[in-house]
Amino acid sequence: MKSPVYILAIESSCDDTSAAVISNTTILSNVTANQEVHAKYGGVVPELASRAHQQNIVPVVEQALKNANIKKEELSAIAFTKGPGLMGSLLVGTSFAKSMALALNIPLLDINHMQAHILAHFISEENTKLPSFPFICLTISGGHTQIVKLTNYFEMEILGETIDDAVGEAFDKSAKILGLPYPGGPLIDKYAQLGNPKAYSFTKPKVGNLDFSFSGLKTGILYFIQKQERNNPNFIAENRNDICASIQHTIVEILMDKLKNAVKETGIKNIAIAGGVSANTEIRKRLSKAEKYWGWSTYIPKFEYTTDNAAMIAITGYLKYIQQDYASMNVTAKARLKVTD
Ligand code: KG4
Ligand code: ZN
Repeated sequence: MKSPVYILAIESSCDDTSAAVISNTTILSNVTANQEVHAKYGGVVPELASRAHQQNIVPVVEQALKNANIKKEELSAIAFTKGPGLMGSLLVGTSFAKSMALALNIPLLDINHMQAHILAHFISEENTKLPSFPFICLTISGGHTQIVKLTNYFEMEILGETIDDAVGEAFDKSAKILGLPYPGGPLIDKYAQLGNPKAYSFTKPKVGNLDFSFSGLKTGILYFIQKQERNNPNFIAENRNDICASIQHTIVEILMDKLKNAVKETGIKNIAIAGGVSANTEIRKRLSKAEKYWGWSTYIPKFEYTTDNAAMIAITGYLKYIQQDYASMNVTAKARLKVTD
């Protein structure tokens, strides 16, 4: 095996086109083109997403190679997101990666996006510690909410998951009720920092020990807002920060309660968070506190590796490459894929 190994990774599962170059476990570049086009529709429009990926993929890959100062002839392998995600979006990355691996005659690595969110913790960074096995990862994104136990890189078990909406959807749908543009999660986070988290209280769902449910909370918030607006049509505008802080506080309480249950049930105190919602300020704060108060070892991803990015695909690609776990050229994109697949 050549050393160091250089891998180009491509992520195109939803609305971000991203490419990264990794040298063993160190990220050399990580370039992402966001798609602004969806904001005015209040959500990702699949047809527009795949079209934008087609426009973005060549410049994004070129930029990633340039930033890494690596020529494509130096690459050892190409990694790409196989799924889960939007089929039209996944196909752009899949066919691009296949053609490039074929042209360069190097191995192809097919990556599960949900595994990659978790394995982003193994990217080498100064001053960050790597998780030790076994550990528990709370995977919180726009499409998923799961508690996963890892006994090794690719040995994962789902201990609990949402029975309806994902936590990212809970943020985005609540934001929509408040008239905020998509994706509303980061905006709720921003306004929450100026508000009182105890101003309003929302009922927490009652579901299985390690499972989640967010659809009831969303309905509760909708009814609450409608009721308040009947008395004061300016309720949202006048209380935006407090409403956002209270919603965020409720969601983070739900997540922390489940993590506490998971620690109690498994005895494992190595706790990681991953996925877009792990960018949230309050969950990051609460987790750091848990380290101090409850003796947990916590792993909070670097901000840029929380929402969708190709760096996480690159590290997962490297971990598969060293096991020579290559994909065949017949591999196809999969819209639905479990973290354990
Ligand atoms: O992992 P991700 O980028 O895409 C999926 O694979 O789903 O996650 C996107 C989700 C969106 O729902 C977005 O609103 C949410 O992550 N999100 C946040 C924050 N940043 C992103 N939610 C709350 N607070 C944030 N700071
Ligand atoms: Zn994601």
